[in-house]
Amino acid sequence: MFTKRMLPLLVAGALLGNASFAADLADKKVWITLGDTAYSHLQKLSPKSVSVESKSINNGNSGLIKSEKVHLVEVSESLLPALSETLHDKSHRCGGYVFHSSKAEGQKALSTTTAVPSLAAIRPSYALDNATTVNAILPTMQASNIAQTITDLSTNFKNRYYTTTAGVNASNWIMQKWQSIAAGRSDISVAQFTHPSWAQKSVIATIQGTDNGSEVVIIGGHLDSINSGGTTETTVAPGADDDASGIASMTEVLRAMVANGYKPRRTIKFMAYAAEEVGLRGSKEIAANFKANNVNVVGVMQLDMTNYKGAANDIYIFTDYTDSQQNTFVANLIKTYQPNLTIGYDVCNYGCSDHASWTSNGYYASMPFESSFSGSNKAIHTANDTFATMGSQATHALKFAKLAASFAVELGSDGAAPPPPADKVETFTGSLAKGATKSFGPFKVKLGGNLKAATTGTGDIDLYVRKTSVPTTTTYDCKSTGATSTESCTISYTANGDGYVLLKGYAAGNYNLTVTYRPQ
Ligand code: BES
Ligand code: ZN
Repeated sequence: MFTKRMLPLLVAGALLGNASFAADLADKKVWITLGDTAYSHLQKLSPKSVSVESKSINNGNSGLIKSEKVHLVEVSESLLPALSETLHDKSHRCGGYVFHSSKAEGQKALSTTTAVPSLAAIRPSYALDNATTVNAILPTMQASNIAQTITDLSTNFKNRYYTTTAGVNASNWIMQKWQSIAAGRSDISVAQFTHPSWAQKSVIATIQGTDNGSEVVIIGGHLDSINSGGTTETTVAPGADDDASGIASMTEVLRAMVANGYKPRRTIKFMAYAAEEVGLRGSKEIAANFKANNVNVVGVMQLDMTNYKGAANDIYIFTDYTDSQQNTFVANLIKTYQPNLTIGYDVCNYGCSDHASWTSNGYYASMPFESSFSGSNKAIHTANDTFATMGSQATHALKFAKLAASFAVELGSDGAAPPPPADKVETFTGSLAKGATKSFGPFKVKLGGNLKAATTGTGDIDLYVRKTSVPTTTTYDCKSTGATSTESCTISYTANGDGYVLLKGYAAGNYNLTVTYRPQ
């Protein structure tokens, strides 16, 4: 647990690099969640690390993979590097762990391994109706630009670890790169997202939507890298595939949009997350922040490892920790805009990248991946994750950049949902003797609308309104019984329903009744 006492140590740790940090806080306890296989590796490393809570997870809709459990465990933070190393060296089919800053946060994550839509999530239309724009942008996208960005990120910085100087500089470099692409576009801003607990910042480029800007489309990847043998200031961790390839793919999407003068109706955000490799920490803070602020995110695409073709198909859609409806849309985008590509499906079996942060905050996310899980690049998290290891090409990543561009344009070009239909107004006139009544309706009111009944007139006529059946003077949902014939009642509908009005002559008089309601 964090205490104020530890703060100086934390700061010192951040300044000195991770090795001494870990040594200083050797027995600091942290919470992680991890899958069955990873859990069994953890128990070999540290038999005392026992799960306090476990939950079966839903592997999406592939139907191919057995279901697995996720376990919540308290471990010493100093164990984490060894755990990462074991997980990646001993098995390529086991998964990592997700870091949680408290037990409560871990429990929350366990309860949301499958998507529970957030109130802030917007389910968009997945109709493919922007072919002209997509087909103008895609042919202008180039592998050579992606290759250059991968090379820059993987050779200009020894590593991009979340606590190192180079890791901080890499974030600044991406911000500057995106700023230079966006120069001259006042509707595009590039900013860093500061994380209070570590030095490396996430980077977010925002293209403000023209007329539906409150709805947001997100393309993301992670900017950090790691060497699973332990990463300090001088460790080599080029992370060319994991995940310079994703950042470079996104960068080419942004460049092509700007070059084509594309202005989306929805807001599009490009996110380069910090600290993914240490438990999705950057994206987790951003997604939680968006949820807390009720940001209407319509869809998220994660690009993490796009440039190593390790299996027969071109693009593998990962079906776990992602949204199946959005995944169907992603497959349709590939079939429509890159019809020569083949599609495969697979799972990580654990929350293997930042899409899981969005999913657990109730947003719709997808992750198209470079290969099947088992065929993926074995050089990741080592000094050999270089551009050369990927065959010194970026044609594979270009497929993902084009997919992300089609995703962002098809979702980004949609306007706001149509406004509700205009209210209907009906008027009635007449007269009532003292004690006489007259009823009106049913008025068929649409959910989300109101029914308002208002009278003017002579004498003293009273007004009663009721859903479901004709009101009486003793049974009503609203009454207005002043000393004149000027009365008013409004009732609202959370479901489609009927509305009835009753007028009664308290003293004889003439009436003008106006009923205003949203029609079904
Ligand atoms: N890019 C990887 C995830 C990945 C690796 C997906 C291989 C498919 C195949 C990502 O950066 C990563 O390393 N994730 C961690 C887990 C994370 C929660 C720290 C991992 O897989 O160990
Ligand atoms: Zn990784």
